[in-house]
Amino acid sequence: MPLVPMKQILDEAVKGGYGVGAFNVNNMEQIHGIMKAASETRSPVILQASRGALAYTNMYYIKYMVLAAVEDNPGIPISLHLDHGNSFETCKQAIELGFTSVMIDGSLKEDSKTPTNFEENVQITKEVVGYAHKFGVSVEGELGTLGGIEDGVGSGKVMLTDPDEAIKFIEFTGVDALALAIGTSHGAYKFKAEPTLAMDIINSIEERIPGMPLVMHGSSSVPAELIDIINEYGGKMEKTMGVPMKSIQEAIKRGIRKVNVDTDGRLAITGAIRKYMHENPAEFDPRSYFGEAREAVYRTVKGKMEDCGTKGHAGDYNPLTLEDMKKFYESK
Ligand code: G3H
Ligand code: 13P
Ligand code: ZN
Repeated sequence: MPLVPMKQILDEAVKGGYGVGAFNVNNMEQIHGIMKAASETRSPVILQASRGALAYTNMYYIKYMVLAAVEDNPGIPISLHLDHGNSFETCKQAIELGFTSVMIDGSLKEDSKTPTNFEENVQITKEVVGYAHKFGVSVEGELGTLGGIEDGVGSGKVMLTDPDEAIKFIEFTGVDALALAIGTSHGAYKFKAEPTLAMDIINSIEERIPGMPLVMHGSSSVPAELIDIINEYGGKMEKTMGVPMKSIQEAIKRGIRKVNVDTDGRLAITGAIRKYMHENPAEFDPRSYFGEAREAVYRTVKGKMEDCGTKGHAGDYNPLTLEDMKKFYESK
């Protein structure tokens, strides 16, 4: 099947009551490891590329590596999504490249640091929705800001999503999915102790717009065992906590349908390479340690697919094309 529009993957997740993992990808090993997990668990999956990933891979490589995954996994619904688009131009570029979904993060200005106000956010999001839907491409917006800064993305200040504003935002913009700020943050250093997230925000939106796909960014669990491997083999990471899987599962029960994960993949790769290098100092074939990294991504992602409930759902539906989605949006 060709790349699937993200709206369909999330609408199906609404019906099935599960949360789809959206994994950040930058290289072949990440994509391959994630797809091995998706194929074994028969899970739909969202592969997402940030602006950093597009710059790192010179754009075309990300596109064609993902298309390789599509060809290699004909029975798995895969969506290619732009993560944290910062401007109309960035979103347009991703659409031209063949992405089936884009995020316009209008919670921040184009510098990806300065928070916007509600009106500014509505304006840019509406503009992107108007353009993307003409091509059948799905759009994720964001209201509220997360804590944490990942490679310059983020204001560093948490502003939780106001549910009343969220309802208006969804109506004014026509977004297909909405990212909420419920107390998570990007990166490895999220919490010092087990967090309490603002789960009620999810309910109060879900009750008023049932079936609206809601998105949780900053969903890495930062497992202690991954930090321990990194530190055991020469790394220097501080003690930290992420979002426990039981909190993610609770969020899914309440209406989260897209679960964004980048950091846990990074930790898995770094630990695997450090360990391999330490144990095999004479080895110099990159396939040996990149292969270990790929397996580590596979193990981490497989566990998440099982825990978030996507397992077995790959064959539930006939994939829609962007042409189908174009007609759907035109008819609205
Ligand atoms: O939310 C941000 C993601 O973790 C992407 O990070 O810009 O370093 O690729 P990146
Ligand atoms: P983590 O840093 O928790 O993996 O979050 C990733 C994310 O939200 C990407 O948009
Ligand atoms: Zn994010």
